[in-house]
Amino acid sequence: MNILILGSGGREHALAWAVKQNPKCDRLIVAPGNAGTAMLAENAGIDILDGATVVTFCEENAVDFVIVGPEAPLAAGVADACRAAGLLTFGPSAAAARLEASKAFTKEICDTSGAPTAAWARFTEATPAKDYVREQGAPIVVKADGLAAGKGVIVAMTEAEAMAAIDDMFGGSLGAAGAEVVIEEFMAGEEASFFILTDGTHALPIGTAQDHKRVGDGDTGPNTGGMGAYSPAPVLTEALQKQAMDRIVLPTIAEMARRGTPYQGVLYAGLMIEDGEARLVEYNCRFGDPECQVLMMRLGAQALDLMLACAEGRLDQTQVNWAEDHALTVVMAAKGYPGAYQKGSEIRGLERMPEDSRHMVFHAGTVERDGRILANGGRVLNVTARGDTLEDARNRAYAMIDHLRWPEGFCRSDIGWRALAAK
Ligand code: AMP
Ligand code: GLY
Repeated sequence: MNILILGSGGREHALAWAVKQNPKCDRLIVAPGNAGTAMLAENAGIDILDGATVVTFCEENAVDFVIVGPEAPLAAGVADACRAAGLLTFGPSAAAARLEASKAFTKEICDTSGAPTAAWARFTEATPAKDYVREQGAPIVVKADGLAAGKGVIVAMTEAEAMAAIDDMFGGSLGAAGAEVVIEEFMAGEEASFFILTDGTHALPIGTAQDHKRVGDGDTGPNTGGMGAYSPAPVLTEALQKQAMDRIVLPTIAEMARRGTPYQGVLYAGLMIEDGEARLVEYNCRFGDPECQVLMMRLGAQALDLMLACAEGRLDQTQVNWAEDHALTVVMAAKGYPGAYQKGSEIRGLERMPEDSRHMVFHAGTVERDGRILANGGRVLNVTARGDTLEDARNRAYAMIDHLRWPEGFCRSDIGWRALAAK
């Protein structure tokens, strides 16, 4: 079959890498893609936020299956447009993608379905929001309701920080995303990501992972889109996964169906674990980036079969074939990220890095010019390895990085520390 993947990050390179290994895949196109996806698929420079453009492209190229990677096209209704045109599509409708696109919507779903999450309130004006912060006290969390590219959440350790965040958001710093603000209880504990495929009725867990959000070693410095990840996440034991399915995920899927907006695609549940209890931090309507890279490394070619079963509504007849393995990815970023950084520096040494079923460099922000690979974003490469133990995967990934010649880049040196320290 001919398959189109929408997106341009490390997540989409990893999806393309897994899909390409499956013999069902004939032609593979990534739009817009990056220098990494160009090595194993065709890149197509189309506007992926415009449903009509995507549909026309699919018709002209005899595409049989569309996989939507990022949240922006999902929230813009691109999966709806594809399905309306009769295309088999992986990814939720715009109505279902509200689980990521509106924090208040997710909180309402939690309240209706009884899913454990932080206590919360919603505001459209600063004065009552500030009164609420004074009543509740710090620490407290201030969130822009809408999509804000990772900048919409302020975990305020003091009331003053919370007040400043409220002024910022209502002052328009995040545009329309901050027109409504959700304020919620600060949850302590350990965070982990849980990934579930659902066709709207049936649900199939497909793995756990942990990200590293802070830019610096020891989880210090500003927040980023994620500096590295590993799978599985030991904190999400079988018992906790079952608890999260029963109390959070299955009630959400049932409530979305009851409302007439069934959720189809991957549901990414961000969980906070404390004292044997899992509570929902947030949902995302897509695979995590870089969590997807470690999930794809472990799932390999079966990822396509799973996404097809999801899109075709037959997840009840599907299972995941697990290996007892571990995967870890280290993000190489341009110096300065998550603040200002330079684009265009040359990355050398990639040809010396092994690429096989245990080692893969996924490109996140790269471009090819005259045979050279140049950095073209903040997060640039995801150096990924699989091993029999987490330590083995970690050692393989960092050994790969030793081959790289890219002085303008950096990475964290401690990816995996939490799980490795717990041993
Ligand atoms: P989000 O953009 O919703 O992923 O939130 C970013 C990060 O903020 C999460 O990954 C958590 O680390 C943190 N966070 C969000 N909500 C809470 C909360 N209620 N309590 C503690 N930390 C939170
Ligand atoms: N790595 C976090 C995310 O994809 O939202």
